[in-house]
Amino acid sequence: APLATLDASKLQITKNPNPKTPLPNDQLVFGQTFTDHILKIQWNKTKGWDAPKIKPYGPISLDPSACVFHYAFELFEGLKAYRDSNDQLRIFRPNKNMERMNKSADRIVLPTFDSEELIKCIAELIKIDKHLVPKEKGYSLYLRPTLIGTTAGLGVGIPTDALLYVITSPVGPYYSTGFKAVKLEATDYAVRAWPGGVGDKKLGANYAPCIKPQLEAASRGYQQNLWLFGEEKYITEVGTMNVFFVFEDKATGKKELVTAPLDGTILEGVTRDSILELARARLNPEEWTVSERYYSIYEVEERAAKGELVEAFGSGTAAVVSPIKEIGFHGKDINVPLLPGQQFGALTAQVADWIAKIQYGEEEYKDWSYVV
Ligand code: COI
Repeated sequence: APLATLDASKLQITKNPNPKTPLPNDQLVFGQTFTDHILKIQWNKTKGWDAPKIKPYGPISLDPSACVFHYAFELFEGLKAYRDSNDQLRIFRPNKNMERMNKSADRIVLPTFDSEELIKCIAELIKIDKHLVPKEKGYSLYLRPTLIGTTAGLGVGIPTDALLYVITSPVGPYYSTGFKAVKLEATDYAVRAWPGGVGDKKLGANYAPCIKPQLEAASRGYQQNLWLFGEEKYITEVGTMNVFFVFEDKATGKKELVTAPLDGTILEGVTRDSILELARARLNPEEWTVSERYYSIYEVEERAAKGELVEAFGSGTAAVVSPIKEIGFHGKDINVPLLPGQQFGALTAQVADWIAKIQYGEEEYKDWSYVV
């Protein structure tokens, strides 16, 4: 028999008999509370994808020898659903996350799937828990699709069994400090990703090694670290986010929005992609260039000294944009300007507003909102 494909029309639903009451928004801590249901889809090498199942949220039981625990057969996604003013739920660009999830799966020989079918299952999952999706700007439902190899046994090989599941978490601002500028420490003694590596994939294995350098930075008073690469000390990412800088050429008065190119060492952020597209479509080209290019901490240092560093911010699904106010590098601090009396720069605020309007359905932009 041919292998079964992932098929949303086979979805089976078991409702949670003990539904939760929503927490007030001001008590939501990122990723700490979950909704009433989980979506689970089992895969087996000889059968393919099993019928998708929505079940009450709860623990998963696996053999202690399962390959996920030993050889890191794990990948995940992060995307969000927003409640608009008509109480409709809108998932932001889910096709981009599904595309990336399939690329991650392919890289660690876990099964790939039909993106559109998984999106349909996710839509059903969030419909069932709609009462737990927060209202209000800044709040949303964070969706966490996860794919693990579940094959029991310690041989290193191709997983013959896998579990795809999706859990969802009502969230507010990612950082407890809210939309507040952060201090970064540039890290060059540890490397997040390298050419030919897997830094562009959303593998759990990319994240665990990032905590120690972050703790190092925290011990010196910095909230996050700025990842550098190579002899040139190119700027790559910040913490678990992509990063953007704004420079102004004093001679011409022209401004440049710059981020690192997707060369295999940079996570293909959906927020990164959205910012680049909106900036290219909406910033006046007489005044602005939008660049994906290599740039180093030395360039940032030099241009800050010349007064050409305008602003900087991180970008990701969780925090959307996160303004930066200072970068420590080899014991010296580079000051990043903010608007007078504010915690962000002008373009940072502009970009945050562009994206929020689309996410909350105040503005329709292409097919970026998947309305449930
Ligand atoms: C993001 O959305 O910025 C992230 O990658 C953070 C997530 C790992 C919690």
